[in-house]
Amino acid sequence: MGQYTKEKQSEKKSLYNNEKRNLPIIVFDNVEKKYHNGVKAIKNLSFQIEEGEFVFLMGSSGAGKSTLIKLILLEETPTSGKIYVNAHNVSKIKKTQVQRYRRSIGVFFQDFRLLEKKTVFQNVAFAMEITGASKKEITEKVNITLSLMGLSGKKNDYPGQLSGGEQQRVALARAIVNGPDILIADEPTGNLDPENSAEIMSLLKMINAYGTTVLVATHEQQMAEEMGMRVIMLNHGHDISKEKIEENVTRKEEVTENQEQTTQIDSPDASNEPVQVEVPVSAINFNASSVADDKNQIVTDSETEVDKNA
Ligand SMILES: Nc1ncnc2c1ncn2[C@@H]1O[C@H](COP(=O)(O)OP(=O)(O)O)[C@@H](O)[C@H]1O
Ligand SMILES: [Mg+2]
Repeated sequence: MGQYTKEKQSEKKSLYNNEKRNLPIIVFDNVEKKYHNGVKAIKNLSFQIEEGEFVFLMGSSGAGKSTLIKLILLEETPTSGKIYVNAHNVSKIKKTQVQRYRRSIGVFFQDFRLLEKKTVFQNVAFAMEITGASKKEITEKVNITLSLMGLSGKKNDYPGQLSGGEQQRVALARAIVNGPDILIADEPTGNLDPENSAEIMSLLKMINAYGTTVLVATHEQQMAEEMGMRVIMLNHGHDISKEKIEENVTRKEEVTENQEQTTQIDSPDASNEPVQVEVPVSAINFNASSVADDKNQIVTDSETEVDKNA
């Protein structure tokens, strides 16, 4: 029995190593997150994101976007369900590996904090220093990244000397300087005017064009629509205040009106907090045809509990 398990594990390892690039980079398999106060922020949520995709995570405030991101970053653990990132079942990542895992994901928040007493260059370099990179490598990569972000001329300035948009670009440079597989942006344009927002979005697009998978959480529907990218929409149901229910109903009507080609997957669980996922039909077709086999491999290779949910 023990031997059998060992064989299975080594088989799994080689499968992941050899075929990693064919697997979706992020998989949520029937995930639920209930906080200690009883709030179910994520419920029965399943989706997958392919390597190299650019995906918007949409939903009004409180819909569960930041919770979803925290689950990916291992800042929260799911109450049930499975999450795979880069072919790893994240619940199995050892404590000693967590930092390394997190470094494979660049993160960019609305309320980013730059170190006020460090220059632009030093702020970005700092993200590399903690990885133990050499001075030469740091200088090289920081300079390239700052130039990509249009900040070469600002590298000796301090954050206080920069505009809001420039500060945001420094934060973006810091998020990508280690060459992450995935870039996650949580409300990246929340504090910016339309012009700076558009600039950040085009930088995210460029980063994606270089091969990084990008996941952007936003409540700004218009922004996601303008970009024309795939949308995953989170929507809480009945547990929120009357006002918010009305707001959600309005939003939902807008979505249906504006996106004729959107398919809605209602939560199969009939309790009072459904989470609905809306994705373009094209994305569903894509996933269903070319990726179903890979997903099954992940599922069967992990634990049988998943089959129960399938
Ligand atoms: N640490 C927490 N403890 C308890 N409830 C939380 C916590 N974080 C978020 N929530 C609740 O979970 C729900 C989803 O929040 P969040 O993920 O921040 O949504 P969003 O980012 O879409 O605004 C909200 O009802 C929020 O109040
Ligand atoms: Mg949030």
